[in-house]
Amino acid sequence: MSGFSADWLDLRGPADDVARSKDLARAFARALKPGAKIVDLGAGTGAMGRWLRPFLPKRCTILSIDGDAMLLSRAKAPRLRRSLAGRLPPADAYVSTALIDLVSAAWLRKFLKAARGKPVLMCLAVDGRHELTPVHGADIAIFAAFAKHQRRWKGLGQALGPLAPAALVAEARRRGWHAASARSDWDLKSGALLDATFAGIVEAAGLPAPRAKRARLIVGHRDVLLIPRRYPRTGRLA
Ligand SMILES: C[S@@+](CC[C@H](N)C(=O)[O-])C[C@H]1O[C@@H](n2cnc3c(N)ncnc32)[C@H](O)[C@@H]1O
Repeated sequence: MSGFSADWLDLRGPADDVARSKDLARAFARALKPGAKIVDLGAGTGAMGRWLRPFLPKRCTILSIDGDAMLLSRAKAPRLRRSLAGRLPPADAYVSTALIDLVSAAWLRKFLKAARGKPVLMCLAVDGRHELTPVHGADIAIFAAFAKHQRRWKGLGQALGPLAPAALVAEARRRGWHAASARSDWDLKSGALLDATFAGIVEAAGLPAPRAKRARLIVGHRDVLLIPRRYPRTGRLA
């Protein structure tokens, strides 16, 4: 068990699918050869692979890896139960959704060493922006406490939280990738995902929930694409 339930991943899946940048996915796919082996890190139930598949060249395979056997059992084969703390399986390219804000700067450096020379597409990393409508006086304290929670240890060192997308871009450029990023915000209107997301934020913040019905919540995310500089031109990055 990872603390991420299949119900939560099912609830957020449609919002993730709308939010991911299709421009970055196309640019990622242009960098791949037919038959490329892609590894989806922290794949959960395999949602990223299902979304990405139509963009990919022919015969590409996506190996879902995750530490949570229950979630992984819902992903299509091929799949591999493995902790991301250990060695990553070899691949022609790496992808993830909603993972890199959980990892530390040290994990990111180790990953970039292992992924050297490979295209990488890391989607849906939180960037710290939240816009709630209507606003309530208690919101500032809640989001401040939540930001601290996002930087806590999540199993792979002190989590980067909202620093993750900028940290990945900066570190990857230093190591020889072209890096592009695009907004992949959730724009949630009243409904189950808005309620569950805000309830999770309030719980993580450890503060009382304000009595207010919210109509809209924007959660800022970014997708990050890395293409090795030595790659032949693959067209626009995004
Ligand atoms: C926020 S969920 C995202 C799941 C999936 N990518 C999606 O978008 O539906 C993060 C995933 O990372 C996995 N994960 C987190 N830390 C891990 C670790 N140290 N080793 C293996 N998997 C890990 C969790 O089990 C979970 O499935």
